[in-house]
Amino acid sequence: MRDLETSKGIQRARRLPDPSLSALWESIIIDKAVKDRLVAQAMLNFTLRPVVDRAVIPLHGVILLVGPPGTGKTSLARGLANRTAQSFKSNDFRLLEIDPHSLTSSAMGKTQKAVSELFSQSIAEAAANGPTIVLLDEVETLAADRSKMSLEANPIDIHRATDAVLVQLDALAEAHPNLLFIATSNFPEAVDAAFTSRCDLVLTIPLPDKEACGRILRDCLTGLGNTFGPIAKLANSTGFDQAAAECVGLDGRAIRKMVANALASSLDTAMHPEKLAIGDIIAAAKAAKQDRSSGARK
Ligand SMILES: Nc1ncnc2c1ncn2[C@@H]1O[C@H](COP(=O)(O)OP(=O)(O)OP(=O)(O)O)[C@@H](O)[C@H]1O
Ligand SMILES: [Mg+2]
Repeated sequence: MRDLETSKGIQRARRLPDPSLSALWESIIIDKAVKDRLVAQAMLNFTLRPVVDRAVIPLHGVILLVGPPGTGKTSLARGLANRTAQSFKSNDFRLLEIDPHSLTSSAMGKTQKAVSELFSQSIAEAAANGPTIVLLDEVETLAADRSKMSLEANPIDIHRATDAVLVQLDALAEAHPNLLFIATSNFPEAVDAAFTSRCDLVLTIPLPDKEACGRILRDCLTGLGNTFGPIAKLANSTGFDQAAAECVGLDGRAIRKMVANALASSLDTAMHPEKLAIGDIIAAAKAAKQDRSSGARK
């Protein structure tokens, strides 16, 4: 089998399970029901599709995660792939990560050709060799909504790339039941409706609620506490609840970055992170939300 990582469009190929992905899955704090739903759908893909005719249940083997930036979609997708391999107690699973931007080309017809080759050769070959999970990050790049395209602003090539993705998904669904695509998008309205219709599950990953914000903040402070001991204590300080409440409206990535901003709010804490106070975090969370709302007004 040729080296998948040198195939055009494949950014990374790895065998599962992978312990670093277990840690990633655990680090994403979200309603347990969401994680359970994802694992169940991914498992069903591999238990049902190989043995049930598509005329009975027309599964395509595609899960789509949509939601605002920084809510953990890509992390969940990678973690889910790993959890699925773990559930089957198998060392045969592989995870392929696709880089959509390496497929899109300004040259006429090139994108369509690259997409077709990736799906019909590299992915099909991997799936023929064992259970395969493919991460299609930023899927709106490859399966762009054709109805919203002006042919002047968007080259016809992109139109054809979407057509190619759909044709290939149908072909792979028919020929390779041990294949699962996990796609993500920040712009569900920019994804072609025919792609979404082929998805077996479309799940919205929301911004964290107050309880989840508190857990993300706590996780971040505890993690920093491993290196800078006193920071861990902030998670049990009196101002912690207020700090968590100030995080509501921020995504998980923004909450973790906000803690870094709090550390960078003075030369003293930048040099001595253990001096961070809960007040610094409350101020940084307020500032992050302010930046976000003024950004939204622009
Ligand atoms: N619910 C969450 N719980 C804990 N950490 C989170 C959560 N959501 C995001 N993060 C943090 O943000 C980082 C970025 O997450 P990730 O890249 O998976 O988000 P994404 O939804 O794919 O973003 P984008 O839409 O911009 O691609 C993660 O590594 C994690 O540290
Ligand atoms: Mg992402």
